[in-house]
Amino acid sequence: MTSLGGVLVVGATSGMGRAIARQLAKEGHPLLLAGRDTQALDELATDIQIRSNTKADCKAFEALDFDSHTEFFDACVEYFGGSLHGVVLCHGQMPEQDVSETDFALARRMIEVNYLSGVSLLNLAAHHFESRKSGFIAAITSVAGDRGRQSNYLYGSSKSALSTVLAGLRVRLAKSQVTVVDVRPGFVDTQLTWGRPGMFLVASPETVAEDIVRGIAKNRAVVYTPFFWRWIMLVIRMVPDVVFRRLSL
Ligand SMILES: NC(=O)c1ccc[n+]([C@@H]2O[C@H](COP(=O)([O-])OP(=O)(O)OC[C@H]3O[C@@H](n4cnc5c(N)ncnc54)[C@H](OP(=O)(O)O)[C@@H]3O)[C@@H](O)[C@H]2O)c1
Repeated sequence: MTSLGGVLVVGATSGMGRAIARQLAKEGHPLLLAGRDTQALDELATDIQIRSNTKADCKAFEALDFDSHTEFFDACVEYFGGSLHGVVLCHGQMPEQDVSETDFALARRMIEVNYLSGVSLLNLAAHHFESRKSGFIAAITSVAGDRGRQSNYLYGSSKSALSTVLAGLRVRLAKSQVTVVDVRPGFVDTQLTWGRPGMFLVASPETVAEDIVRGIAKNRAVVYTPFFWRWIMLVIRMVPDVVFRRLSL
């Protein structure tokens, strides 16, 4: 990262959002922590300020309240005196695949949170950084977006759609020296995965946060975290359809 400007972390109450916020604070970035649970955000901000001696504050954000996004984003920019340096999107939902298959309202809500609210915020962030000709955008998608699997293709589709937006934005914003990072974690030990069956090679949020902040500093297009998921997903993408159909993935 070139300067220690202010960073907005959206979904900062998430397991990964908390760890990313702490990692950014360690590097000296002032933070604005956004999410639904303002009490939890307040506690996190206080904890970060004590541990890192870095300014941290919080801001209410509801992903599904699309009409509020412009005002929310403008207020965040204003908070940093018009010099927002980075945005990290960490919010997301992963309802059970079998329930999402029959409960369209649930599937729709997940798509709205994971994809549509991401598009809304990315548009606002892109416009801001494009005019400043600097800054970074990072959004957490998932390895689940790399190939549709019967166990989570609905969630995966919300993430692959967001990955496509990030890929296009990266090209658009390269001319303006803006870094755009698509973060694709494997399984991470957070509330999202607690108690779910079939988890393996589960990483800690802290490990993932270090990878993400390093990836932003190195202007990586796609960060698989931990790194070995790049190779696991390469193999999974290459499995022929006729074989893939027989796997209980
Ligand atoms: N854990 C994994 O294995 C894994 C793997 C790959 C990708 N991911 C992705 O990584 C990101 C972070 O997830 P996590 O694992 O750290 O999960 P988490 O701890 O369950 O956090 C989910 C976050 O999303 C926020 N959120 C949900 N619905 C929202 C809404 N309508 N408006 C605003 N915020 C909302 C939650 O806010 P509240 O605190 O208010 O509920 C919470 O901060 C997600 O995008 C997830 O899909 C996770």
